[in-house]
Amino acid sequence: MMKYPRSYLEEINQRLKVSDIVGSVVKLTKRGKEFVGLSPFTNEKTPSFTVNDEKGFYHCFSSGEHGGIFDFLVKIEKLTFGDAVRKLAAKAGMQEYKFSQTNIEQEKKIKKSEKLFQLFFNYCYKNLFTEENKNHLDYLTNRSLKKTTIDFFQIGFCDDSNKASDHFLKLGYSQQELIETGLFYLNEQRKTLVARFKNRIIFPIKNLFGEFIGCGGRTVLSSVTAKYINSPETIFFKKGNNLYNFNNAKNENKNQDYLLIVEGYMDVVSLYNHDIKNVCASLGTAITDNQINLAWRNFKNIIICFDGDSSGFAAAYRAAEKLIRISKPNHTVSFMIMPQGLDPDDYVNKFGKDGFDQLINRKKDITEFVFEYSARQLKNHSPSSLAELEKKLMDTADTIEDPIIKKYYRNFFKNKIFENLIKKNKNKQSKFQIASTFDLNRLEMSELEIKEFSLCQLLIKFPEFSAKHIEKISEINLNLELTKNIKSKIIDVLIGNQHFNLNQINEYLASQKIKNIDLFFKFSTTNTLMEDVDFATFVNLVDDYEIQLERIRKYKKIEELENTFSSNMNEQALNELISLKNSNNL
Ligand code: UTP
Ligand code: MN
Repeated sequence: MMKYPRSYLEEINQRLKVSDIVGSVVKLTKRGKEFVGLSPFTNEKTPSFTVNDEKGFYHCFSSGEHGGIFDFLVKIEKLTFGDAVRKLAAKAGMQEYKFSQTNIEQEKKIKKSEKLFQLFFNYCYKNLFTEENKNHLDYLTNRSLKKTTIDFFQIGFCDDSNKASDHFLKLGYSQQELIETGLFYLNEQRKTLVARFKNRIIFPIKNLFGEFIGCGGRTVLSSVTAKYINSPETIFFKKGNNLYNFNNAKNENKNQDYLLIVEGYMDVVSLYNHDIKNVCASLGTAITDNQINLAWRNFKNIIICFDGDSSGFAAAYRAAEKLIRISKPNHTVSFMIMPQGLDPDDYVNKFGKDGFDQLINRKKDITEFVFEYSARQLKNHSPSSLAELEKKLMDTADTIEDPIIKKYYRNFFKNKIFENLIKKNKNKQSKFQIASTFDLNRLEMSELEIKEFSLCQLLIKFPEFSAKHIEKISEINLNLELTKNIKSKIIDVLIGNQHFNLNQINEYLASQKIKNIDLFFKFSTTNTLMEDVDFATFVNLVDDYEIQLERIRKYKKIEELENTFSSNMNEQALNELISLKNSNNL
């Protein structure tokens, strides 16, 4: 009998859940991480049959029967193995596997290429640590990568084209075999092999089973036009079906219930470098349904995290508009947008894992994201503009395949239009009404500014609390001129009158000629996040902000010390630096 390629069977396994397949025959009830039901193998009254999706098997405690989805169809539906594979492949949305001569030859080629990839990436990895390529290792080290991170991703360096190809020809590989990997191509005129990734840092790419399928290469020279190049599409490298680092990230589902999808190789590597491991990259192409379905098989929630520039933002919206179609119950796609000008790599290097986690907390569900993006295009609040917006949102919602989700999302959008654009606008004035946290990014504020402004905003929003805790508030250590002034004015006004409400405080602040106060007002009308904060949350937030501000201050101090230290080495600065770095709430 012909054997199906392992990767084909595993892909079916990856795409289907045991509980779905078994569940169409056995009534299953969820119990913790598993499902239980009455065993289809025995005639029992109390359930002894369990299904575990994470591990991909069923187990019957009374009969000892045990297996995966293929076994189940063979045993229960009495299908041949081949029929079970065909049936499940169709269910997984995959093409039937044909045992043609070409397929068999392809399998052989894939095996051979896999071996070549291993040798090649190993060769490049070793190369990175040679004396002559030290500048490339330095480049990575200067980008803060630890040796363990470089090892984990097997990052390497491909040197001059002849050297690499000679090495592999000597090992006995033919020109043709080398070309088929996509790692080399033939220079037609000179009839010589060229290493496609010559003079580039190599990021090996694996498929979801951990087999090499290609790579990306980065030049460190600004004079070279293509910053990155990628392996060409081959029989084994299909960009839209793979996610960089998914083979590792998928195992993180034991610790995290969400997967981050970022844009670039370096974003993945750098987040990993900061101990954020549930992350993969879309390999520079638009995110596909395939990639999302693959991810959902392992994580209920996906967070798409694009660069904080207009093209990253537009790409995120395009992804949202496309992906909303496959929304399904109990699975989410959310979006987080980096502050202007930063990508995840920049951000995590600047603000660390904690900073990044905080940004994750500000993610937006796909519905909110689509709404806010569309609402931003609104010219005015005239009935016809609102109608145009509603039409656009309804058209988007109508693409949703799941009927129940469709119903809810349509209602969500209609409600949002009413609540955010019609109702609010009736009794109010400002053009910032439809603003959102995206606009916060547009204000181009630093984390510190956002934190301190938000804190002041909260103190004004809950004047009863602030009035009772004037002493505590006066002790909060703020850094910015503007927020310091606002704080002291808030204290002044509350000492004078304990019963001022939010509007009265704002009026008072406006009358005080505080320098740059407009910035603050603009921020608080834009920062709609705070509108939902209730009193209990607020009390926690105040403490939380204090801790966060303390942390930011430490970072700043460290940065200053590092600067002083590098220009003027002295022991005192060094000791201070070490003790700050060691203090634990960093
Ligand atoms: P970016 O330009 O955002 O690169 O491209 P990056 O990830 O921040 O990399 P560094 O920090 O400059 O090293 C994001 C992704 O788009 C693809 C790559 O997959 C890259 O990781 N890309 C980018 C290309 O394929 N070719 C290019 O020329 C540029
Ligand atoms: Mn980058």
